[in-house]
Amino acid sequence: MGKRFYITTAIDYVNGEPHLGHAYEKIVADVIARAHRSLGDEVFFLTGLDEHGQKVQQAALSAGKSPQTHCDEMAAIWKEVARRLSLTNDDFVRTSEPRHKRIVQTILTRLHAAGQVYKSQYKGFYSPKEETFLTDKDRRPDGSFDPSYGEVVELVEDNYWLKLKSYQPWLLDYIEANPDFIRPDSRRNEVLGLLKNVALEDLCITRPTARLSWGISLPFDPHFVTWVWLDALVNYISIPAAYGDPVVRAALNPESQSPGTELELWPADLHVIGKDILKFHAAYWPILLKAIGLPMPKQILVHGWWQKDGEKMSKSTGNIVDPIKVIDEWGVDAFRYYVVRELDIGPDGNWTDAGFQARYAAELANGLGNLVNRSLSMLKRYCNGVVPPRHNELEPEAEQAVQETIAQFRDAKLQGALQSIWSLVTRANQYVDRTAPFKLAKDPAQATRLAEVLYNLAETCRVLAVLLWPFIPSTAEKIYAQLGLSGSPDTMNAAFWGGLKAGHTISEPLALFPRRDQPRN
Ligand code: MSP
Repeated sequence: MGKRFYITTAIDYVNGEPHLGHAYEKIVADVIARAHRSLGDEVFFLTGLDEHGQKVQQAALSAGKSPQTHCDEMAAIWKEVARRLSLTNDDFVRTSEPRHKRIVQTILTRLHAAGQVYKSQYKGFYSPKEETFLTDKDRRPDGSFDPSYGEVVELVEDNYWLKLKSYQPWLLDYIEANPDFIRPDSRRNEVLGLLKNVALEDLCITRPTARLSWGISLPFDPHFVTWVWLDALVNYISIPAAYGDPVVRAALNPESQSPGTELELWPADLHVIGKDILKFHAAYWPILLKAIGLPMPKQILVHGWWQKDGEKMSKSTGNIVDPIKVIDEWGVDAFRYYVVRELDIGPDGNWTDAGFQARYAAELANGLGNLVNRSLSMLKRYCNGVVPPRHNELEPEAEQAVQETIAQFRDAKLQGALQSIWSLVTRANQYVDRTAPFKLAKDPAQATRLAEVLYNLAETCRVLAVLLWPFIPSTAEKIYAQLGLSGSPDTMNAAFWGGLKAGHTISEPLALFPRRDQPRN
C-alpha cells in the first residue's frame, strides 16, 4: 500500500450548531473523497472538531458542565450530522483527544528547542470574541474595529511567539512557484497580495492559563496553553502521526517505534476550507510546517460562503439553514446534489427555498428520476424486465459524459462534473421523446427497434449510477438495485458501455425523487 489521497476539511468549532455552511464543506470533501475512491485511489478523508478555547470554556461553565463533558455531548451531535450527510470520513478528529494533544506538545517542544519560539510581553488590543490580537492596522478608516470582533479590550500580558517574520520571503516564493498550491486563483492572488504588501508579525501561540485553562498545556511552561489555531491546524498531522505516517514520524520523532500500522498520508493532497480561514491555512500553516521540517500540503481548495435569502446566516436573525431539517424533508441526496450543483467551489452562494425546490423538481424529479423511472418501467412492461441484446446508439453520449466526469473529478470540478452528467440525462430524456418507445410498443413490426431503444436507456441508467455515486450515493445504489444489479456503483471501472448483459432481469422500478407539487407542511 502506498501513499493515500489524503483530504481534510476545516474542523468545526464545537460551540456552534451545524448549519448549511459546515455541511457544504463536508459534502464537497466527501464527494471528492468518493470520486477518488471510485477512480481507484486509496483515500483517507479526515474531518472533525475544534474543541478548545475561550468560547467553549464559557459555554461549558454557563451550562454548569466541565468543558470535556460539554465537548463530548456536542461531539455526539456533530458526529450524527456527519452520518446524516452520508460522509465517508475515515476518522473524526477531536482536538481534546490525547492522540492529538501529544503531537501538539511534541511540536511545541521541538520549536522551542530549535529556538523558533520566544517569550515576550504583549501590550495591545484583543478581541475575546474572535480570540485574536488586533493592531492599529486592523482599525477601519474611522478608527473603530469591525463589529465582527465584538468588544475589543486592551491587554498587557506575557506570551510565547513563533518567529514568523523571517519566513515571509520563502512563503511568497513558494506560492509563486507553485501555482496550484492555493485554488481558485482569486484566493491565491489574495494571499500573494497580502504577502507582497503586508509585513507579517510574529505569531502569538499561547494564552495564559489565568485567562484560559481549556487548552493544550505548553510543555515547557505550565502557565500557558496553546493558542487554539495552532492547536487546530496541527490536526492535519496529528492524525497521520496516530496512524504511524512515516513522513510525520521522521520529522517529529525520529526515534519512535512504528505503532504497527503505517499509513502514508502526509503531505495532504487537499485541504478543503472556507474563504474566511485562508490566512491561517495559506500563511501560518505552511510556515509552521516549514519550521518543523515537513513538506507542504499539495493544495488548499477554498470555497465561498453561503448566505440565506441574500443575508448572512445568523442565529440572531433566525435565518439558519439547518441541513438536518432539509434532509428530513427532502432526503440527503437532494441536499447533497443541490449544494454541489448550485455553488461552484470558490464564489459565494445564496440559498433560497424556492431555488432548492426548483432544482429538485426540474433536475432530480423530472430530469434524472423521470428518465430512470420511465426507462425501467418500459423495460418491465414491454420486455418483461429482461434486458435485450446490446445496442450502441447512446454510447457516444455516455462515453463523453464518462470522460468529462473523470477529468473533472481529478481536478475537483464538481459542479462541472454534474453539468456533464446532466447533459447525458437530458440527451437520454430527449432520446425517449424522439424514439417514442411507447409508440413502438404498439407495432409488433417494431419489436427489434423497441428492444434497441430500451437497451440504450437501461444501459445509460447504469452508467449514470456509476457517475453519480460520489454525489448522490444512495440514489446511485437505488438505480443499481432497480436494475437488478448486485454490489454498489462505486467504481468508475464499471462505467464502460455494454456492462448490462442481454437476458439479465431487472427489479422493480420505484420513484427516486417523488414529485412534490405542494410543499409539505
Ligand atoms: N475551527 C475553525 C477551523 C479550524 S481548521 C484547522 C473554524 N471553524 S468554523 O466552525 O467557524 O468553520 C468551519 C468551516 O465552515 C470553515 O471552513 C468555514 O469557512 C465554513 N463555514 C462556516 N460558515 C459558512 C458559510 N456560511 N458558508 C460556507 N462555509 C462556511 O473556522
